[in-house]
Amino acid sequence: MAVTRPEGLPSGRSRSLGDGEDGGRFGCRCAGPLAGIWILGLALVACGPTQNLPTPEQPIAYDHQVHIEAGLECVRCHRGAEEGVHAGMPSVQACAGCHRREIPDHPEVQKVMLANENREPIRWAKVNVIPDSAMVHFNHRAHARAGIECLTCHGDVASMTVAEPVRNVADMGWCVECHRENEASDDCLACHR
Ligand code: HEC
Ligand code: HEC
Ligand code: HEC
Ligand code: HEC
Ligand code: HEC
Repeated sequence: MAVTRPEGLPSGRSRSLGDGEDGGRFGCRCAGPLAGIWILGLALVACGPTQNLPTPEQPIAYDHQVHIEAGLECVRCHRGAEEGVHAGMPSVQACAGCHRREIPDHPEVQKVMLANENREPIRWAKVNVIPDSAMVHFNHRAHARAGIECLTCHGDVASMTVAEPVRNVADMGWCVECHRENEASDDCLACHR
């Protein structure tokens, strides 16, 4: 859906999430079912990292901790995470290039080598996702430039075996709250275009 700023709404940097006017504004603009979604959003923010989100099953038992301990940096595999819109996922060739020498006989690594031979991509399940249908613009580069670490949004992936969601990232309340705290834009059109 296209979102335009409702008439008469000021855009500014000084609004805070707590003031009653905000609740009213969203209440007015987003009457009906959406008001419920907004309230649910606030409830999720309040729950923070303890949200019980499902961790999807992955085709190969890739383990972050093992690779971070081996000295690999996040951007080695997620090449766009600092300079791109999307962080991106590593290609099967990138895994195979190293695993030709590293533990090629490990059963999970053999799945990687087979996919590489067959030129089949590995279909990693998405963990953090803002659905395309939401038409929300998110971009990694802007956040890396502002000095926000991966940890802030994704939790301590470096010590995870399977990457788990630590929060729902498709949550406007979360985005807007941090933007206001950091004097980043809370203009509707910064995110909805
Ligand atoms: C050797 C390659 C590699 C390195 C290095 C690596 N990752 Fe990953 N990452 C993967 C793979 C493969 C997956 C998909 C499997 C999974 O979810 O565990 C993944 C998944 C993720 C996800 C979830 C993706 C999604 O769909 O939302 C996040 C977040 C993530 N990595 C963050 C990091 C961070 C932060 C670091 C550095 C501390 C890092 N990764 C280092 C390979 C890597
Ligand atoms: C730059 C080298 C390098 C790259 C690239 C790399 N790995 Fe690894 N991987 C390692 C090392 C080192 C180990 C640990 C080996 C050991 O235990 O002796 C490892 C271990 C593993 C293991 C065994 C994990 C366990 O539980 O012990 C799997 C599975 C694996 N890697 C899959 C992958 C996949 C999938 C990718 C691509 C997304 C990938 N690796 C990319 C170096 C690499
Ligand atoms: C301000 C919060 C925030 C920060 C900081 C952040 N991410 Fe993300 N990340 C997200 C959101 C939101 C998504 C989902 C994006 C989407 O679906 O369009 C995502 C998605 C991902 C994915 C899934 C693949 C993709 O491109 O969508 C990976 C991998 C990932 N992030 C890795 C990282 C790494 C590595 C860092 C640190 C260099 C990092 N992220 C920093 C919020 C963040
Ligand atoms: C932890 C704090 C934090 C979170 C969470 C966060 N952001 Fe941001 N965001 C920032 C900061 C800081 C900037 C940089 C502002 C600047 O450069 O002036 C920024 C910049 C942006 C920009 C670029 C704005 C521009 O005008 O170029 C967009 C778009 C954006 N964020 C969208 C999102 C979305 C969508 C989410 C939620 C999925 C989100 N952000 C979550 C802190 C955050
Ligand atoms: C910092 C980024 C950001 C800003 C600023 C922002 N939004 Fe959002 N908005 C989001 C995210 C993320 C979602 C959740 C998308 C989803 O449903 O997956 C969302 C969801 C919504 C939805 C619900 C859409 C749906 O399909 O349910 C509406 C309506 C909406 N926003 C309106 C607004 C209005 C009006 C403003 C300005 C007052 C605004 N947004 C400002 C990020 C933002």
